[in-house]
Amino acid sequence: MLSYRHSFHAGNHADVLKHSVQSLILQSLKIKDKAFVYIDTHAGAGCYDLHSKEMDKTGEYLEGIKRLWEADVPAAMQAYLDVLKNLNSDDEGKLAQYPGSPLLGKELCRPQDRLLLSELHPADFVLLEELFAKDRRTQVHRVDGFSQLKGALPPLERRGMVLIDPPYELDHEYADVVKAVVDGIKRWATGTFAIWYPVVHSDDVDFLERKFSNSGLPGTLQIELNVLQRNNRFGMTGSGMIVVNPPWKLEQQMNELLPWLVDKLAQSPEANFKLRWLSPPR
Ligand SMILES: C[S@@+](CC[C@H](N)C(=O)[O-])C[C@H]1O[C@@H](n2cnc3c(N)ncnc32)[C@H](O)[C@@H]1O
Repeated sequence: MLSYRHSFHAGNHADVLKHSVQSLILQSLKIKDKAFVYIDTHAGAGCYDLHSKEMDKTGEYLEGIKRLWEADVPAAMQAYLDVLKNLNSDDEGKLAQYPGSPLLGKELCRPQDRLLLSELHPADFVLLEELFAKDRRTQVHRVDGFSQLKGALPPLERRGMVLIDPPYELDHEYADVVKAVVDGIKRWATGTFAIWYPVVHSDDVDFLERKFSNSGLPGTLQIELNVLQRNNRFGMTGSGMIVVNPPWKLEQQMNELLPWLVDKLAQSPEANFKLRWLSPPR
């Protein structure tokens, strides 16, 4: 059941989109001194070796973060790229390691902030636990991320974000993310919920768009980056983030960033992006 390993995919175009959006949300939370919580329901291993045997098989990062490694990135990507550069500073400036969402969270959160991570895979959980062993701000649990989220809301801090990034290996995970957010917003109306999704089958993307549009949620922004023309047959052609209660500047930041990302990450002339409100901000 738990066959997905993110080490095969780390640093690909989908990670670049997800981690750019995650970084922008965290940066916006830091505008106020007041502490916030970062909740990562499907955390993965936390950090990835780009020269591992898994990565040798796919080389997905070569069409992802590697294309940005030496580029002059827009200001909106600077915090994310700074974490990446620091992580690789010992390796003669070569891109050798990639930070997963928990490590990005670790680096971008402040001493007063709190992190709550869940990961079910036994091997990835051990790696994640080791990475955070000395971080007193962080709790790492080997539990179902959806259940942990339920128990964690509303957070004491009343400010923060939730990243929901399941592998979508099981069909019900599409319905699970919708339920987690609809229930989550009932418990924590002002929280920012960021949901990642793959663009593989149109039916699944249509399902998410319909559910997020019709569930009575507060402002919900859809951000999608397609590096290939959608074909419904040959794997992931793009990915998206659905952000409920986004920071007010996120739409404008993504409006500027997405054309640049399309230009850098395109794998065919049909590459494109989508940026729209599934539910308008109130
Ligand atoms: C896409 S990966 C996460 C990548 C990570 N968020 C990042 O951006 O670096 C999804 C992870 O969810 C884990 N997982 C699957 N089902 C889970 C569940 N119900 N609760 C917690 N983790 C789960 C998988 O083992 C996998 O490591």
